[in-house]
Amino acid sequence: MVSLAHKTVVVLGGTSGIGLATAKAAQAEGARVIVTGRSRERLAAAQTELGGRARTVALDVADEAGTRALFQEIDRVDHVFITAGNVALDARLAPDSAALRPAMDVRFWGAFNAAKYGAAKMNEGGSITFMSGTTARRPLRGAAVSTASCGAVEAFARALAIDLAPIRVNTLQPGYVDTPMLDELLGEAHAAIKTEAGARLPVRRIGRPEELADAVLFLMKNGYVNGITLTVDGGGLLVG
Ligand SMILES: NC(=O)c1ccc[n+]([C@@H]2O[C@H](COP(=O)([O-])OP(=O)(O)OC[C@H]3O[C@@H](n4cnc5c(N)ncnc54)[C@H](OP(=O)(O)O)[C@@H]3O)[C@@H](O)[C@H]2O)c1
Repeated sequence: MVSLAHKTVVVLGGTSGIGLATAKAAQAEGARVIVTGRSRERLAAAQTELGGRARTVALDVADEAGTRALFQEIDRVDHVFITAGNVALDARLAPDSAALRPAMDVRFWGAFNAAKYGAAKMNEGGSITFMSGTTARRPLRGAAVSTASCGAVEAFARALAIDLAPIRVNTLQPGYVDTPMLDELLGEAHAAIKTEAGARLPVRRIGRPEELADAVLFLMKNGYVNGITLTVDGGGLLVG
């Protein structure tokens, strides 16, 4: 496996949760890390956690011009991981359709922007990793468009593994992971719901961001892994 030492790793949506854990893990292996996010507070907190070697940049991944500008000023990119995703609730497609568009704008078109401008700065050892979720296999009730956005990036990764070759393109597909996003989605009772959800899993607990980061580093470093969707869910899909 190729080391990440002296590589440039860009994590779009890297100021919290799985993205931040990945940035930390890559940096611990000697990578130069650039992380992006929208909230200034999260960017500042991530800068403090990662230290002066890392760079933090304010960027919404749905912003194509901003993504182009980010990559334009980086000489060479080795690995891109895009975590940003939007979970829009849409029971029976009831709300205004426009309210559902961000789900595709962020996860799918964000992945498109990251791949388009990131790949342009990569050499043949480069890799791109998208983010979906096990919802692509077992849909989350009332989130059909978000579910479709997960399926879309998985198919997109397989197509790009052909079109951008020899750059490798894969997708990470997590089950429950203990992050601020999950707490926000679950609401006030998040602690109890996470314990219950974990108890139903074969591994008896939900995932930790560091465990997903470990999987992303595998996708970045293993030069023979290409066009796959890597499920990391504690066996959740097996038990329904
Ligand atoms: N946690 C889970 O159980 C779980 C399970 C399956 C899949 N996932 C997927 O994993 C991904 C990461 O989630 P997480 O759990 O690590 O959440 P998190 O802790 O909230 O982290 C999300 C990161 O993405 C950034 N982000 C969100 N929207 C963005 C946008 N439009 N442009 C740029 N950055 C953006 C956030 O910063 P700002 O908000 O400041 O922009 C933050 O840095 C999501 O796509 C989620 O759907 C999570």
